Amino acid sequence: MKQTNMRVLGIESSCDETAAAIVENGRVIESNVIASQVDLHAQFGGVYPELASREHVKAVHATVNEALQQAHMGLGDLDGIAVTRGPGLAGSLVVGVNLAKGLALSTDLPIVGVNHLEGHLYSAWLYPADSKPTPEPKFPLVALLVSGGHTELILMRGHLQYQLLGGTSDDAAGEAFDKVARLLELGYPGGPSIQKAAMQGNPRAFNFPKARLNDPWNFSFSGLKTAVLRTVEDFKASKKQLPTADIAASFQAAVVGALFEKTIAAAKEFGAIEIIVAGGVSANKALREAFRSQTEFRVHIPHISLCTDNAAMIAAAGYRHFMADEFSALDFDVQANWALATNA
Ligand code: KG4
Ligand code: ZN
Repeated sequence: MKQTNMRVLGIESSCDETAAAIVENGRVIESNVIASQVDLHAQFGGVYPELASREHVKAVHATVNEALQQAHMGLGDLDGIAVTRGPGLAGSLVVGVNLAKGLALSTDLPIVGVNHLEGHLYSAWLYPADSKPTPEPKFPLVALLVSGGHTELILMRGHLQYQLLGGTSDDAAGEAFDKVARLLELGYPGGPSIQKAAMQGNPRAFNFPKARLNDPWNFSFSGLKTAVLRTVEDFKASKKQLPTADIAASFQAAVVGALFEKTIAAAKEFGAIEIIVAGGVSANKALREAFRSQTEFRVHIPHISLCTDNAAMIAAAGYRHFMADEFSALDFDVQANWALATNA
């Protein structure tokens, strides 16, 4: 499929954000609307799946309409529809997928089911319509994908080519932030609340183990999490006041250190010329600063508003599939567990 100015409507409903966006040529954001359920789930300390799918049903139509309105477009101005097919909560995914299919059926537009992780990677290509184009990532590149459910190092030699270099043997980085935030009785989601607490703390106050394994490209966060737990328990047992900010800062430094070092090492080892850092945890200020403070590689980190779940990234990834003549038939199903990359 080759045409100039291809406008793709993206729809995302894999977790706790209902989102719709319109992106031109896989890069230019014409609109990007997110209806977040975060406040609703905060009372449960995590995402409550049954509630999430019901909220998606309530929000999805208005979200798509809003995306069209903000872009000053109607369905007739679109050239394709991209929707998150997985991974995520099945009951939530199905809401976005069904709406996308209905729209495709009624408009005759091509549709493609996109992997949510691929969307996070393609967020590195995005920039708002009213600002200057950002430099386009160049291949081969190493991507660090760090979200609530995934922590992966991926080698991309070209568009839509993903080679998994390593992952996590236990928790995902975002999950570790969320769990440690709970231990420290900070709010949900844990990433932003740990980052906030860490601003008042000393990252060298505690020497927590880095989330490192002997294996060069895999991560493990369980040792670090246990070390934080022990520290919290020791303070509680001795009835001393918990130095929450210092623990948060030291924990964050340990996570950032491991993510940063392994990514740079992988980029060198696999001959990458550039690096992408994407996914919810890439919103972390300390992580962004670590990558910005090195000069060996050009690093693409999406704008903070595009790090966490959104639909612009789904439209951006969908565009690459359309360009490669990859479409989905209308009977495709959601894939709650869908790995993006293989070791092949
Ligand atoms: O990509 P995302 O929005 O959803 C998934 O696909 O999982 O990532 C959500 C994760 C949560 O675990 C959240 O705590 C983490 O990203 N996160 C952060 C920050 N903002 C969000 N982690 C560290 N620092 C942040 N500023
Ligand atoms: Zn995500």
